[in-house]
Amino acid sequence: MKSTVVAPSNIAFIKYWGKKDEILRLPCNGSISMCTSGLLTTTTVEFDESLTEDAVSINEQEVLDFKKDKVVKHLDRVRKMAGKDIKARISTSNNFPSSTGLSSSASGFAALSLAATKAIGLDLSEKDLSILARQGSGSACRSIPSGFVEWLDGATSQESYAHTIYPADYWDICDVVAVVNQGPKDVSSSIGQESAETSPFFEPRKAHMPDKISEIKDIMAKKDFTLFGELLEAEALELHAIMLTSRPSLIYWEPGTVKLMKFCKQLRKEGLEVYFTINTGQDVHLIVEKVNVNKLLERLTEIPDVRETIVNYPDQGARVVS
Ligand code: PMV
Repeated sequence: MKSTVVAPSNIAFIKYWGKKDEILRLPCNGSISMCTSGLLTTTTVEFDESLTEDAVSINEQEVLDFKKDKVVKHLDRVRKMAGKDIKARISTSNNFPSSTGLSSSASGFAALSLAATKAIGLDLSEKDLSILARQGSGSACRSIPSGFVEWLDGATSQESYAHTIYPADYWDICDVVAVVNQGPKDVSSSIGQESAETSPFFEPRKAHMPDKISEIKDIMAKKDFTLFGELLEAEALELHAIMLTSRPSLIYWEPGTVKLMKFCKQLRKEGLEVYFTINTGQDVHLIVEKVNVNKLLERLTEIPDVRETIVNYPDQGARVVS
């Protein structure tokens, strides 16, 4: 009754922000992402009849706070599905900084969903695993399928899941994460999302999201990197316009974040085609074609705010390793 799983995080090109059902985590709009090869969570779940409560460790440290509660709540979903009331030992580790905006909850809940269901003896379809992962953390549903992924917003829980639109080897693009700060962010995505609808720009965003999703899918079908980059950068700025104008406002950027956004535009003027996207954190995801990765890494050494870079290619989704 033990299983170990590796799951990637993912970077959204069209973002999820705002829920139409808080408890089920049904998003207000669909989203499009890529599984990231360099941001990985490894999770082992072992159900053990002799345990009287769940024991959770993250990066080899036992956790007892709200993070444990979220894991236990998710295990309860799995126990309910399996009709078994057995406690478990969960150990999980990330190969990247947690809670800084690099979506450790996406890789974390994808890994936990697959490891826990396997360990308890369930064999869920990819769709059902994605639905389960979504209830732990919305964007986790996009780390179950491989490659380039779409999450359907759906009117019900059964209709809101992620699926592959193109496999990982479809397009040679890369997400170079420029880590600006390794400290944890002060407002989590879950809390931040609660105020999304207070922004005066939220309703107009919601209205044009279906068109935006169709547009990016058309562009991806043609592999037009310039149109793709322009759209994902505009999308990131739109998301942050919502955050900045929500009440209370959410300001995730730091000086280094803004410097990198401007640097990106400068690099394009100089002929290096790179576009940025940013989630709920200060770090910047730089999207570039694979042929330009080394050039970009070299240019990033000019920016002292960049503490670390993490190179991500499109990856497989969550997979069982033992
Ligand atoms: O799934 P959450 O609650 O971590 O929210 C993710 C929110 C963004 O990263 C900003 C956007 C996205 O679609 O990944």
